[in-house]
Amino acid sequence: MTQYVINGGTPLHGTINISGAKNAALAILPATLLVDGVCRIENIPKVTDVTLMLEILRDVGASVGLEDGGHTVLIDSGGVRSGSVASYEHARRMRASYYLIGAFLGRFAGAQVAMPGGCNLGVRPIDQHIKGFETLGAEVQVKAGFVHADARDGHLKGAPVYLDVQSVGATVNIILAAVMADGLTVIENAAREPHVVDLANFLNSSGADIKGAGTDIIKIRGRKRLTGGTYAIIPDQIEAGTYMAAVAAAGGEVTVGNIIPKHLECITAKLTELGVEVEELDDALVVRRNGALRKANVKTLPYPGFPTDMQPQISACLSCAGGISMVTESVADNRYRYVDELKRMGARIQVDGKVAVIEGIRRLTGAPVQACDLRAGAALIVAALGAQGKTEVGGVYHIERGYEDIVGKLKGAGADVWAEEISDQELLTAGQTG
Ligand code: EPU
Repeated sequence: MTQYVINGGTPLHGTINISGAKNAALAILPATLLVDGVCRIENIPKVTDVTLMLEILRDVGASVGLEDGGHTVLIDSGGVRSGSVASYEHARRMRASYYLIGAFLGRFAGAQVAMPGGCNLGVRPIDQHIKGFETLGAEVQVKAGFVHADARDGHLKGAPVYLDVQSVGATVNIILAAVMADGLTVIENAAREPHVVDLANFLNSSGADIKGAGTDIIKIRGRKRLTGGTYAIIPDQIEAGTYMAAVAAAGGEVTVGNIIPKHLECITAKLTELGVEVEELDDALVVRRNGALRKANVKTLPYPGFPTDMQPQISACLSCAGGISMVTESVADNRYRYVDELKRMGARIQVDGKVAVIEGIRRLTGAPVQACDLRAGAALIVAALGAQGKTEVGGVYHIERGYEDIVGKLKGAGADVWAEEISDQELLTAGQTG
């Protein structure tokens, strides 16, 4: 089993380049199932969630080739047949496998996909996805661990869909189902995240007719056929935000490169409130922290609000900021599981439901800790970089689901960090199981 070891307290310096957006890739890769001909997708992040999605595409019969060291994929879905089913083991390990429902419904008017897995962030229903599919004319049932969806009349028909919650997943899935349906679909209260816009841009570049992505009303006029081409995925806003938080915690000055500054405005604004200096360049941000961090209140909201996927990392920063901060998690309902691990490092945090009250201390101290999900793991790394002494982070497979070469990128910025193998016996001795 791998763990990361971090000797904290070294300010970061240099440049960290950001990879392609995981959550955009996880929507665009299944969308290639709707396209005739070869899709060449560039700026693919090399993270295990993407590797798993590519396995799922192979499971259903797509041909998948890799170029540019795995950062470009070529997908030809000509071999995919109606009724193909992804391996239960693969599909249930990942949340985004549910995009196969929308993609198969869109292409074949029928889908059979294992119920999705993913980070344990509390109850994560898919009622809004199902409502969308049903409104477009599908019958949806959950049987024996699978979601079965079939168009009642053999094809889907465009219709207005109102989402009760601004769900990224439901917005993506309804776009996938509607893009080749008959007539016009209008999604109201749609999610506005950059990865939703990226999916729409990819589909439009393949011949789809999608208007309004990035606003809360998206209009999709069904097209008979989409054709392949080349498309590059946007940079990962959360990966960028995580390295910005790392500079806030550790101090120093880092250029976070290959990004779209607009996508990071909310994170930039909050870090500025904490006392971090952020200078905007065309496709980079220079992030600098010399003085002490200040307290701030944070509330997570759908884009363009502060992202839930950055809540653990900003809380790690606030753990060593002057004063008392209040964090409100209003998107996910179980996203404070990392708090007990931060407490091992000396953090003073009280959680009551959706609210965490953080009393900043001068410095956290290194400790053996365990990542319990992707962003929790990122928060522990941020905390460890600013802490005094050595932190050993276990459960790093969670982190590798969404961060490409995090150890190499941090090392490149001067951090004292490495990955090492640890035996089960050592884990037991360290008291990390059970
Ligand atoms: N919701 C419903 N019903 C639904 C769908 C969602 O009530 O049918 C609720 C959820 O329970 C949640 C809220 O709506 O309270 C928002 O959920 P959303 O559907 O937007 O989340 P998701 O699509 O499951 C994506 C990202 C998550 C990210 C959330 C919020 C992917 C693959 N995952 O999840 O990313 O936290 O949006 O922005 O795109 C991560 O990358 O670490 C991660 C967990």
